[in-house]
Amino acid sequence: PKNLSVNEKNHLVIGGCDTVDLAKEYGTPLYVMDEEHIRTAMRAYKNSLNSFYSGNGLILYASKALSTMYMYKIASEEGLGADVVSGGELYTALKSGFDSEKIYFHGNNKTYDELEFAIGENVGRIVADNARELDIVNEICEKKGKTAKVLFRIKPGVDAHTHEFISTGQIDSKFGVAIENGEAFEIVKYAKSLKNLEIAGLHCHIGSQIFSLEPFKLAAKIMIEFAEKIKNELGVEISELNLGGGFGIKYIESDTPPEYEKYIEEVSKVIKTECAERNIKMPFILMEPGRSLVGDAGITLYTAGTVKDIKNVRKYVSVDGGMGDNPRYILYGAEYDAAIANRANETADEVVTICGKCCESGDIIIKDAKMPKINSGDIVAVMSTGAYNYSMASNYNRLCRPAMVFVKNGKASLKVKRETYEDLIKNDIL
Ligand code: LLP
Repeated sequence: PKNLSVNEKNHLVIGGCDTVDLAKEYGTPLYVMDEEHIRTAMRAYKNSLNSFYSGNGLILYASKALSTMYMYKIASEEGLGADVVSGGELYTALKSGFDSEKIYFHGNNKTYDELEFAIGENVGRIVADNARELDIVNEICEKKGKTAKVLFRIKPGVDAHTHEFISTGQIDSKFGVAIENGEAFEIVKYAKSLKNLEIAGLHCHIGSQIFSLEPFKLAAKIMIEFAEKIKNELGVEISELNLGGGFGIKYIESDTPPEYEKYIEEVSKVIKTECAERNIKMPFILMEPGRSLVGDAGITLYTAGTVKDIKNVRKYVSVDGGMGDNPRYILYGAEYDAAIANRANETADEVVTICGKCCESGDIIIKDAKMPKINSGDIVAVMSTGAYNYSMASNYNRLCRPAMVFVKNGKASLKVKRETYEDLIKNDIL
C-alpha cells in the first residue's frame, strides 16, 4: 500500500513509525492504523460528493468495518455521519460524543430495545427493513411523543458480482424489501398510514468489495425509477437517497479497484439524468463506505513462531494470532499480502502458508504466500487489515483480542487496549 515505506534499518514504516519498534513497545499481535490515511480517504470521499452533488450530500462512515470510540471521533471530526447496525455500535458512537442527528440506524432485525434506545437518543434516521419494524418504531414514537424519520431498505435486484456471503442487493436476501415482487411499494404505502413516521427516503446497498461500476449505476437508476413510481402512485416524494457502501479495495497485486472519485462521478451522472427525465427533485445523497475508508489504512503485526517445513508438501509459518483477529480467510477465502517487518526489502523467494495458533486447520491468514524466508522471531506484517478484522475478531480458544494503535507523524497512540486474561473471565460465573 501507498502509505508504507522502508527505513534505513530495512524496517517497514507506517505513519512515520518503525513497525519493529511498535511491536516491541506494544507487543504482538498488534493492529496498526494510519490515521492520516483514514482522514485523507474521508476528505477525498467528501470532496467528490460535494463537487458532484454541489454539496447536497453526506458521507456516512459504515462503522461495522471498524467500530471503536476513536474511529467515531475521527469520523465526527472529519464531518462525516455514521451508519450503525446495533445497539452496541450506537452506544460506542454516542459514548465517543458522536452527534446523534448524524447517525443512521440499520439492521434487518433491530430489537424493540435497540429501537427504543435509538429513538430515545434521537438518532437521525431509522433505515427501516420491514413492516414489523415500522410498527415498532411507530409505537415507540407514540409512547415518547416523537416522530422518527425513516428510510426504506430496498433490494434493487442487482447482482454485484462479489462473494455470495456479502451480496445483498438480490431478491434472495434477508435485507430489506424487493421492488420486483411489490414488497417495496407496499411498505411505502403502509408507512404513509403510520402517523408517527416521517418518510425521508430510500436506501440500497448491493454488496461489498465490488470492483465494477456497472452494478452501482444500475442500482442508482432503479432507485430513481422507484422514486418516480411512489411519487406518481402514492404521492410520496423522497428527500434523501442513500446509496450504501460496497466499494472495493486492493488487497493483493491483482486487485484493481477503480478510483472512487470516478465511481461517485459516474453514479452522480446517472442520478442527475434519471431525476431530470423523470421529474424527480434531486434528493440529498448519502453514501456509506466502510472498507474503503479504513481497509488499507491498517496492518497487523505478528511474531512468527513455529516454522514447519513438511517436505514436498507445504511450509507452514505459525504466527501469534490468526482467525481470532482476522477471520476473513476462513469466512470468505480472502487473500492478503504480507511482508517481514524487520527485513522489509528482502526478495520473496519462498512459498509459505502463514497460519494462526487456533485449533482449526482453516485458521490461515495467507495460503501459499510468496515471502522471503521467515524465521521464528521475525515480525510479520499483514497488509490492508483495517476493515472487518478487529470488528469481526473473536476470543475463540480464549485468545485475547490484540491492541490497536493509531499512528500519525511518527507518533503512536494506543486506542484499544490488549485484552487480558481477566477480561476473558469477567462475565464468567463459577
Ligand atoms: N451499508 C450497509 C447497509 C452495509 O451493509 C455495508 C456493509 C456497508 C454500508 C459498508 O460496506 P463497505 O463499504 O464496507 O463494503 N465482513 C465482510 C463485509 C460485510 C459487509 C457488510 N455490509 C468482509 O469482511 O468482507
